[in-house]
Amino acid sequence: MARLFLAGGSGFIGSAFVRHAIAAGHTVQVLCRSERSAAAVHALGAQPVMGNLLEAGTWQAHAAQAEIVLHFAQPQTFGGRVSKARALRYESERQIMDRNLLSALMHSAVQRIVYVSGTSYYGQQDLPPKDETAKPNPRGWGPYIVKAMQQLETFCAAGLPIITVFPASVYGAGSWYAEILTSLKAGRVQLTAARRDPTLATVHVEDCARAILHLMEHGATGERYIICDDRPPKYSEILAQSAQAMNVPLKTRAVPLWLGRLIVGPVIADLYDAHLSNARLRSTGFRFQFPTIEQGIPDVVRTWLTTHAH
Ligand SMILES: NC(=O)c1ccc[n+]([C@@H]2O[C@H](COP(=O)([O-])OP(=O)(O)OC[C@H]3O[C@@H](n4cnc5c(N)ncnc54)[C@H](OP(=O)(O)O)[C@@H]3O)[C@@H](O)[C@H]2O)c1
Repeated sequence: MARLFLAGGSGFIGSAFVRHAIAAGHTVQVLCRSERSAAAVHALGAQPVMGNLLEAGTWQAHAAQAEIVLHFAQPQTFGGRVSKARALRYESERQIMDRNLLSALMHSAVQRIVYVSGTSYYGQQDLPPKDETAKPNPRGWGPYIVKAMQQLETFCAAGLPIITVFPASVYGAGSWYAEILTSLKAGRVQLTAARRDPTLATVHVEDCARAILHLMEHGATGERYIICDDRPPKYSEILAQSAQAMNVPLKTRAVPLWLGRLIVGPVIADLYDAHLSNARLRSTGFRFQFPTIEQGIPDVVRTWLTTHAH
C-alpha cells in the first residue's frame, strides 16, 4: 500500500478517487486551500495538507515526500457563461499550478505521478474511434490546455515518471451533469444546437475514479490513457436517458450557433464529435462497472435523487 499525495482531491473526480484509494488501503494526503475542503476530505478518511497550487509553500515538501502523486486540480470550468477571457485565465493558471507541483517533484523519490488532463485535448475525432496516438485536434476547453500539455512534456523529458490520463466527459452527481439534472427536475427547457447533435465521449465518475486508481498501479510511465465508455452517445441521447431515468418530460429548444455562443459562451458552444477508443485502458485489464450511459445514467440519477428529493 502506498503513500499518496493528491492535488484536487476535494473536487468532483478527486473525491471519488479518494474514496476508492482509501478503500484499497492507501494512505492519502490531499492538498486543500480552504477549511471547508479540508473538512470534506477528512470526512472521507484522508489527511488534509493546507496550501494553494498557485503559490509556493510548505505543501510542496509534503508532495515531494509521497510515493505517488496524483494531480486532479484545475481552475473551475463549469457554472455560468465561459467567456474567452475566463478561458484564457484558466489557461495561464493551469500552467502555474502544474509548474508549482511538478517542479517540487524534481529530484524527489516520487515513484509515479498521475496527471489528469481531458479528452477535449484530442477534440474533434471522426469514426472509426481514435486512440491515444491520434493527432490532437483540441476543441472546447482543449485549446486552453495545450500550453499545459506542452509544459508537461518538458517535465516528462526531464525524467519525471508521469502517466497522463484523459477522462472523457465525466458524469455523476456533481459538476456539469448535476446542472443538467437540476434543470430537468425544475422542468426547464434544455437548449440544444440547431442542425448539430454532437457525439460526446462519456464516463461514469465511479468508473473514472476506478480507472485512475487502476492506471496508477498498472499504467506505464511516459504513457497516455484515454478513459471513456465503450460507446460515445449523442448529446440528445444523454438528455433523453436522463429525463427517462428521472421520470420527467424532456423539453428541448434548438438554438442557432450565434445564440448558443451568446448564452453559454464560445468555449462551451464549440461543439465537436469525440469518437475515442478505450482499447488501451481495457488492454491493461480494467473492467467498467458502467460501460455505457444506459447502465450509468440510471445509477447516477438514483444517487442524485437521494440527496435532491425535494
Ligand atoms: N469533470 C469532467 O467532466 C472532466 C472531464 C475531463 C477531464 N477532467 C479533468 O479532471 C480533473 C478534475 O476535474 P473535476 O471535474 O474533478 O474538477 P473540480 O470538481 O472543478 O475540482 C477541482 C479541484 O481542484 C482544486 N483546486 C482548484 N484550484 C486550486 C488551487 N489553486 N490550489 C489547490 N487546489 C485547487 C479544487 O479545490 P477546492 O475544493 O478548494 O475548490 C478541487 O479540488 C481536471 O484536470 C479536469 O480538467 C474533468
